[in-house]
Amino acid sequence: MAQAEDRADRWLREGAARHARGEIAAAEALYREVLRVRPEDANAANLLGVAARQRGDLAAALDWGARAVALRPGAGVFLANYGATLAEAGRLGEAVEMLRKAAAARPDDAVTLRNLGQALCAMGDPRAALAPLERAAVLRPDAAEPMLALAHARREAGDLTGAAQAAEAALARTGGDPALAAQARFLLAALGREAPPARAPASYVRDLFDQYAPRFEAELTGRLRYRTPEALAALLRMAGVPAERGLRVLDLGCGTGLSGLALAPFAARLEGLDLSPRMLAEARRREGLYAALHEADLLEWLPRHPAAFDLIAAADVLNYLGDLAPALAAIGTALAPGGIAAFSIEAGGTPGTPYALGEGMRYRHDPAHVAALARAAGFAELAREAVTLREERGAPVAGMLFVLRWRPGATETGHG
Ligand SMILES: C[S@@+](CC[C@H](N)C(=O)[O-])C[C@H]1O[C@@H](n2cnc3c(N)ncnc32)[C@H](O)[C@@H]1O
Repeated sequence: MAQAEDRADRWLREGAARHARGEIAAAEALYREVLRVRPEDANAANLLGVAARQRGDLAAALDWGARAVALRPGAGVFLANYGATLAEAGRLGEAVEMLRKAAAARPDDAVTLRNLGQALCAMGDPRAALAPLERAAVLRPDAAEPMLALAHARREAGDLTGAAQAAEAALARTGGDPALAAQARFLLAALGREAPPARAPASYVRDLFDQYAPRFEAELTGRLRYRTPEALAALLRMAGVPAERGLRVLDLGCGTGLSGLALAPFAARLEGLDLSPRMLAEARRREGLYAALHEADLLEWLPRHPAAFDLIAAADVLNYLGDLAPALAAIGTALAPGGIAAFSIEAGGTPGTPYALGEGMRYRHDPAHVAALARAAGFAELAREAVTLREERGAPVAGMLFVLRWRPGATETGHG
């Protein structure tokens, strides 16, 4: 008996050591051995949860996390890990409850405090997020992430001066990490403190949608009354694009696949592309919808796939880009001659200025400017429609839909 106990202790230690070296499968095998001998071992259950989360298996991570907490309800580290997993799964109410208990047990754990603050923000309660995030930023004076999270919470709570101060402080803490610096600068630009960059940093968009992925559809189609994909599909039909399942279609910034559902009637073959792996994981669950899904930045991917598509559609995607000229050129390259581009923009940029970055951290464009860019890039306009894209804080977000035909070689004056 004592021997079995010793063996279990050894397996746990060896598992943790392998885990730390990144040998996840080997570590998991050892933790399972521990549980065979000691089914009530909360450490092994907790570590299996951590490993499952690292592998991206959220369902298993949730099961193991719940088991560890049930076995040892007062252990702060188990509460913290389970809370972080709940937040990642979009179960925000439970996450906040768990992370609050974890923070009470370990009040100086900056990661737990940051996770708690970010879960509160995601739940729409940025004011409640301020205290844990301020504390996390104090506890980690060398780290940019908690300070950046605090800057976002202050912005969402309406404290724009405090948000800019925190974003400046985050910028000073990035330690040369270019992705973090770009995120801090992007926030400063959205707050009007710097000129807006030509695009949202890819790392910002990826993080934003990765954390949004489990809740995206429920929120967009519910509270936010998102209707861009259907409106875009209707405009395509109106412009005479045949909905006869005959085209090679690319759903650019496909997200979880809401836009793919609206585009499917046009597609003999539908592909999706997105920056966010977690959005793509949701899209992959729609069996049979996409023939292929690509994790990539559209500006990098499109030029490498010349003339590959008959229709490229981007629903609620180009508002993460400021300068649309490179995107239009890249879409043109990936379209076959005569192919169709369809996309939405958020309208309301200042006339005469190419783009404006709003406090909501998305770009708005002047439709007349976009139409001129499209013409200059070699597109002929087939249709345009002013629409409400969705709602934000109860107010409609005004947008414009475009349907364009690609005419390679055509110039602004060479109509054909
Ligand atoms: C608001 S969602 C819209 C998703 C989908 N089109 C729909 O209508 O439901 C925007 C998506 O565009 C993706 N995205 C934004 N910029 C991108 C880029 N440069 N390259 C690839 N994907 C991008 C984001 O990751 C996100 O999934």
